[in-house]
Amino acid sequence: MMKRFFIITLGLAAITTVVSCNKTRRSPGRTYMPDMTYSRAYETYTGLDSNKFTNDTNAAGKKIFYNHLPVNGTIARGEMLWTYPYKNDAEGYTSSASVKNPLNVDSIDMKEAERLYLINCGICHGSKLDGNGPLWKGGDGPFPAAPKNFLDDAMKSMTEGTMYHSVTYGRNTMGSYASQLNVKQRWEVIAYIKIKQGVTGGAAAPAKTDSTAAPKPATGK
Ligand code: HEC
Repeated sequence: MMKRFFIITLGLAAITTVVSCNKTRRSPGRTYMPDMTYSRAYETYTGLDSNKFTNDTNAAGKKIFYNHLPVNGTIARGEMLWTYPYKNDAEGYTSSASVKNPLNVDSIDMKEAERLYLINCGICHGSKLDGNGPLWKGGDGPFPAAPKNFLDDAMKSMTEGTMYHSVTYGRNTMGSYASQLNVKQRWEVIAYIKIKQGVTGGAAAPAKTDSTAAPKPATGK
């Protein structure tokens, strides 16, 4: 009796194994609560299945998917009403030199700016801004490229606008900080660096502020 029971169990186990291994399954199977799995909201970047709750179609009769980029010029909630006018290209980099900090530097909370700097930048550029943070440590740290020393003359004369460009889009081995720091925070950090450098705005800033002070709307981040 016991033996037969054992054989039946073994047989069932073998069948289960064979059946469950018969092909590669990528589908998660039946969704019992689709609005838990798929958002009802039109979420930017969500997967194609987010069309579950819409029957909207485009002119060609195809279902519309909501994984598109935000409309150009879209400003996130709580974000400053200011957009950087230049693209991530050589021309944009050159033009960035004339962009001014839209914040009133005197009213920036420098403690907060310092906190943001130390978390996001100091690890590479150093808490003393000397380009020697713990990720670099004079070449012994884990980061493979030398961060710029903000106390160098070249960095002192780099305008705040160019700094904003590089922090927003990244520069060579340094990545973009646009997703970590919002527009206001990026300008706060740059103001902090400029104050620590003992220069305001960047020495090489061109004198013609009037024509460039008001940024054109809606091309960049
Ligand atoms: C992971 C390390 C790392 C972090 C973190 C980092 N940087 Fe950098 N940064 C670099 C390196 C490396 C360079 C030199 C890039 C190159 O080769 O031109 C650089 C260059 C720069 C430059 C000069 C860009 C140019 O146009 O030449 C600026 C300005 C700058 N960083 C600002 C910042 C600010 C502000 C932060 C914080 C929001 C920050 N960095 C965070 C590594 C870092």
